[in-house]
Amino acid sequence: MDSTTKGVYTLPGNQEKYDLLKKKNQEALQGGGEARIASQHKKGKLTARERIHLLMDEGSFQEIDKFVMHRGKDFGIDNEHYLGDGVVTGYGNVNGRLTYVFSQDFTVFGGSLSETHAEKICKIMDMAMKNGAPVIGLNDSGGARIQEGVNSLGGYADIFYRNTLASGVVPQISGIMGPCAGGAVYSPAITDFILMVEDTSYMFVTGPNVVKTVTQENVTAEELGGASAHSVKSGVTHFSCANEMECINHIKQILSYVPQNCEDTAPVFPYEMKEDESRKVLDEVIPENPNHPYDMREVIEGTVDEGSFLEVHKNYADNIVVGFARIAGRSIGVVGNQPQSMAGVLDNDASVKAARFVRFCDSFNVPLLVLVDVPGFLPGTDQEWNGIITNGAKLLYAFSEATVPRITVITRKAYGGAYDVMNSKHIGADLNFAWPTAEIAVMGAKGAAEIIFKKEIAEADDKEAKLQEKVDEYTAKFANPYRAAHRGFIDEVIMPSETREKLIRGFKMLENKVDKLPRKKHGNIPL
Ligand code: HXC
Repeated sequence: MDSTTKGVYTLPGNQEKYDLLKKKNQEALQGGGEARIASQHKKGKLTARERIHLLMDEGSFQEIDKFVMHRGKDFGIDNEHYLGDGVVTGYGNVNGRLTYVFSQDFTVFGGSLSETHAEKICKIMDMAMKNGAPVIGLNDSGGARIQEGVNSLGGYADIFYRNTLASGVVPQISGIMGPCAGGAVYSPAITDFILMVEDTSYMFVTGPNVVKTVTQENVTAEELGGASAHSVKSGVTHFSCANEMECINHIKQILSYVPQNCEDTAPVFPYEMKEDESRKVLDEVIPENPNHPYDMREVIEGTVDEGSFLEVHKNYADNIVVGFARIAGRSIGVVGNQPQSMAGVLDNDASVKAARFVRFCDSFNVPLLVLVDVPGFLPGTDQEWNGIITNGAKLLYAFSEATVPRITVITRKAYGGAYDVMNSKHIGADLNFAWPTAEIAVMGAKGAAEIIFKKEIAEADDKEAKLQEKVDEYTAKFANPYRAAHRGFIDEVIMPSETREKLIRGFKMLENKVDKLPRKKHGNIPL
């Protein structure tokens, strides 16, 4: 029907109403306009919608709140409105599974967060919680909408609060695709995984100018809070990605290993067990000399389904390796000491890195495989004064409270407190294997001999020879897995090549494990 005129008003007919919707939809797709989109592309960045297009399965994205506009009144902002208000929100499928997303649009007020922008994010977070599906946040924002003052700060707090409530309920992943500064960093920080794009993204609480004023340090935004700084130095980001495409692919990959929510189980990929699952290559991994390094990744890759290992936090605390993998099509989280870096010793960073990963896996029902070759905790004032007691306790606590299926394989050293911490039988592991090369003892043979035979060595004519004799005696007695196996602390001593088959059968056996912690409000992990 055509429009009709009633007095001073011209009322639109249906066709005009349909045309108006189309026009508004087109306007919303334009974000901050062509010039700003071109400027975004010129910086090597995609737009908010292009990112969603890459993330979601073709044609599955359903946008919500496309026509929301800000309510700001000050500094002339009431004359400038953009449909959607700088963030695209909605739901769709990633690899066929329901996923919620918000993607900040830098072309609208620099992606800054207004009250309404925050409300849009909160709305999809609430939906994700109710419907039990992951939330992906693609961050590209100049921070609080300066013209809105405390309304914007309140909006941030509303998001932080929901991030916290959603933690452990649905997986939350943050892709940092541009600026993320000031208090804005605390939303990603509460989520489960952060991914940053090299050269085009940065995160910091205070930027280079404030740093210069307060500490007189000269530092660029990239040096202070770029992907490299946060993947290597601070460990804030779990992945440093060469470009946005890689970042989004990693997000999809992470989702493929995890369940939709804490009541769900991870997707199982079809797998037909072979007649012979042995991996002979593993028999060659451990060097003859127990002080020589090897790469724990070789053990991981030799054990899990081919090509299934996705390393997390790769550039940070590389004396421990963590990541997702699959065993016979089922998701597992892997934690392994890395003898190739600082002999695989546990230090502050490695303990915290592993503890956080263990807690993620336990929150979301991902079983744990722990590969042990650890000479102990790293000594020194730096470690002690930076809290190795508290930080080591985090890992101990994280393993101890994990109720998912847990299997340990000791490949070589398991010394001292680190033996206990690294998912030992005593703290609730379900199956504990050791290779014949395992050495389970209070400490290395030399250190042990020097302490317990101190007097004998001091009195000997040939001190060197005496020490060696005692080292050999200690090695023969303790540097093996059998004392622990005699006690049942090790369930089975296995050949390295048998490991994969043992793990397939072990995790299958533990499939229906039910384990409950004592009733409590929540524990008090040593933070
Ligand atoms: C409103 C903003 C904005 C903001 C950018 N814009 N940040 N508008 N509030 N916070 C607008 C700009 O006016 C500009 O509008 C457009 O976005 C693009 O910004 P440019 O400066 O031209 O882009 P670029 O050169 O790439 O620089 C990006 C930037 C810079 C580094 C992010 O814009 C910047 O420093 N912004 C302010 C950052 C800031 O101090 N935020 C508050 C932090 S405190 P036009 O119309 O020209 O396109 C905070 C507290 C959070 O966030 C607390 C939570 C608890």
